[in-house]
Order: sequence, then structure tokens, then C-alpha cells
Amino acid sequence: MKVKASAPGKTILVGEHFVVENEPAIATAINLRAYVVAEERNDNVVEIISDNLNLREVFMEGSENRNSPLYPIHHAVRYIMERAGLSKGIVLRISSEIPVAAGMGSSAATAVAAVAAVSRLFGVKVTKDDISRAAYIAETIVHGKPSGIDNTVSTYGGVIAFRKNEGFIRLKGNFTTAFLILADSGIHRNTGSMVKKVLKLKKKYPNIMEPLYHAAGRLAIEAGKAIEMEDLEKLGELMNINHGLLSAIGVSNQKLEELIYRARSAGALGSKITGAGGGGFIIALCTGERVEEVKNALKDVSKRIIVTRIENEGVRAEDLD
Ligand code: PMV
Repeated sequence: MKVKASAPGKTILVGEHFVVENEPAIATAINLRAYVVAEERNDNVVEIISDNLNLREVFMEGSENRNSPLYPIHHAVRYIMERAGLSKGIVLRISSEIPVAAGMGSSAATAVAAVAAVSRLFGVKVTKDDISRAAYIAETIVHGKPSGIDNTVSTYGGVIAFRKNEGFIRLKGNFTTAFLILADSGIHRNTGSMVKKVLKLKKKYPNIMEPLYHAAGRLAIEAGKAIEMEDLEKLGELMNINHGLLSAIGVSNQKLEELIYRARSAGALGSKITGAGGGGFIIALCTGERVEEVKNALKDVSKRIIVTRIENEGVRAEDLD
């Protein structure tokens, strides 16, 4: 028997960085998915093949290659099997539409899909919460101490308001008219070092930074209300203000600003850094009739522009035969 599971990537709408210090943030699942096909092997090794990374790795218990980029997936899968008292061999084949190392939650989506596929293949009863938690364990290997947004959004889908010490709620609303255009600055960025840089600035200027954090938290609450009211214009405006706060805490640069202002001039309702900043992608919120204009305005400055929609479905799994 073969099982196929998939899970969506994510983008942060508002609140990145501020979320690290327990302010609320809002992220959404996007309609790019990671797919994992799982099949049993007649031994007890975990074989993982990644089409995107062009990599195949065989993990034998006790002598795993911990440096492999596929190790976190193996770890999450073993965790779920051990919890069910299983010691089985398995082949996982991964293919993904989500760009790697782009702040779109590709590693979390892959871990979520892998855990769901293995659980279904062996008939292990798991809740969405179990899947998210197993994927979080994989995420701690990839990212150190992540906030947990990526695995949560990927598991549940939809738009999620998240606060570190309180958990998450799924926001209601019909988002069929919203387009999220993601444009790559082409500048490599590292989430961990951007987080450290921001926290250092906060420590240096606590009296200035604390009100900014407070404002970002209030902004995320307002943005949540705008989403539930399906008020995309207001959401766009709040995204612009949020970008100003991100600039203030030092995570923007000239290239990102150029992309952001080009998108706004072309009619985006809002545009900002998404994720850690310092490079990576910007996000522009717009309605259908502005998509081409915004794309055209960005294409001279960005080599990779991805038009996405809000994805309501989180993880799913099905039998293939
Ligand atoms: O760029 P990403 O998707 O790795 O997002 C990082 C978001 C931060 O708030 C900066 C860090 C976090 O763990 O939430």
C-alpha cells in the first residue's frame, strides 16, 4: 500500500520578529504544497528521497547522518512511530512546490506531510495537534528555537493568529478575492541571525523599542479584526504600517524597499517584508485586477515572483493503492 500526504507552505501577514517577544502575529497558508508518498519497506530503515534537493538518504537506527538536510524529517517520522510502538521500514518520496529556504515554511510543510503519510500508512491514530507537534520537533532541528508558526499553519491551513505563550486561533473569513504576490529580493538571509540582530537592538534601546513592540501587537489584533471583516483595504494599510515598524527595527534594506514601493505604486493594497527580512521575499496584497500590474512592476527588480492565494486546507492524506 502507498499513501500520499500533502501540506501547505505559509507566509507571515503581520507580526514577524515582534512574535519572538510574545506579541501576536498573523500568518496564512498559501496554495503551494509539499507532497510525501510513503510506502513500507521489509526492514527497519527509513529511506527518504527528495526530488527537489536531488538527494536520497537511508537512515539506520543508531547510525543516522545527523548532518543530512533530510535528518529532521526522519526524526519526526521516527518520533511518531516510536510513540505508536512501531519499528518498521519505510520509503518516503518528497516533492514540493514550496521554494526552499525562502521563509515559506517548506521544511515544516514537508515534516507535516511526512508525519501524516506515515501515520496513515501504519494506521496510527493521530490528531492534527499530534502532527503539528511532531513537525515542531523537526523544526527545532532546522531552526533552533522557532516560534511554531510554520508547523501550525501548515497543519491547520487558513489564516492563523498566533501568540507564543498562548497558542493560536484560526480566523474566520472568506478570502477568495485576495492575491498574495511574493517577490524574491535575491538576497540570502538567515532567520536566526536576523532574530539575534533585532533582539540586540531591543536590548540597546529598550525605552524606544518597547513601544514599537506594543504597537506591533496592537496592529496584529487590528489586522485580525480586518481579516474577519474581510476588509482587505484595511489589512493592506495595516501591512504597510507593519512594514514601517519592521524598517524601524532594522530588518529592511534598499532592495526590499524598492520592491515594496514598486508594488504599492502599481496598486497593491499593502506591501511589506515577510518573515525574517534582511533579504528573502516581500509580500504584496492585491485584488485580482491588480495582479498583472504589480507583477510587471516587480519583474525588473525580482527574478522570482510567485502569485499565491490563501489556502484553507491544511494537511491531507489519501491512499494511493
Ligand atoms: O522568514 P521566516 O519564515 O523564517 O520567518 C521568521 C519569523 C520570525 O518572527 C523572524 C522568527 C520566528 O521564529 O517567528
